[in-house]
Amino acid sequence: MFNLRELIGNFEANDGEIVTRREVLIMGALAATTVVAGGAALGQPAIKQIAGSQTYIAKDFTGLIGRGLNGLSANQIEQHLKLYKGYVAKANEIQGKLKDVDVSAANATYAPLRELLVEQSFALNGVIYHELYFANLGGAGGEPAGELRQALEEKWGALGKFIDYLKAAGKCMRGWVIIGWNTRDGHVHCYGLDMHNMWVPAGVIPILVLDVYEHAYMIDYGVDRAKYLDAFVNNLDWDVVAKRFAAACKHHTCPET
Ligand SMILES: [Fe+2]
Repeated sequence: MFNLRELIGNFEANDGEIVTRREVLIMGALAATTVVAGGAALGQPAIKQIAGSQTYIAKDFTGLIGRGLNGLSANQIEQHLKLYKGYVAKANEIQGKLKDVDVSAANATYAPLRELLVEQSFALNGVIYHELYFANLGGAGGEPAGELRQALEEKWGALGKFIDYLKAAGKCMRGWVIIGWNTRDGHVHCYGLDMHNMWVPAGVIPILVLDVYEHAYMIDYGVDRAKYLDAFVNNLDWDVVAKRFAAACKHHTCPET
């Protein structure tokens, strides 16, 4: 049994609501099989129950602009936030259409239900990953400490090697780099995605999320992704990542695996 609020702080749940592992996995499937842990905006719900239905509400990350990130301009962040809000709107639109979709036309080549389910995974992961990304920005970079650092060093040998690996992965992927806690083997790993809903491993809890879509850096750096990756690392909020890690690593190995 998991406490939903503890496991996925981005989602609203009734106080004290307890869900089973199976329910957590079902929610993970809705988010393209990724489970979400913590977030800087813990306690700020992304979903609210309104008239018996779930509606996604964009979080306020404008503080990143006022804070003056080192190497990421206000315009870059503002444009990125506009895009994020677009995903929130589309996630809501899709959810609304799913209520009335014609299920009698179900077909694996084309059906309105199929298209809505596919794009739901794209839009919803567009919301979730952007929230995790913006929430782990705004720090002063530096180095992690404690059990998080220990886990990264255990996996990559040294913190510097982890940072090099993160940047290298950032140069390879076309969408996202996820450092995530794998609930199956109980270790952190690096995962790469070319789209919000492409190649998302099941049972992985993101603890560090890096956006490498061109829209994340083109205004500031043109096609020089390497400089953007330096800026991302310099603005990482390790405290946020550490909180996610602490929440994620409590969950380990599905009994059926
Ligand atoms: Fe993005």
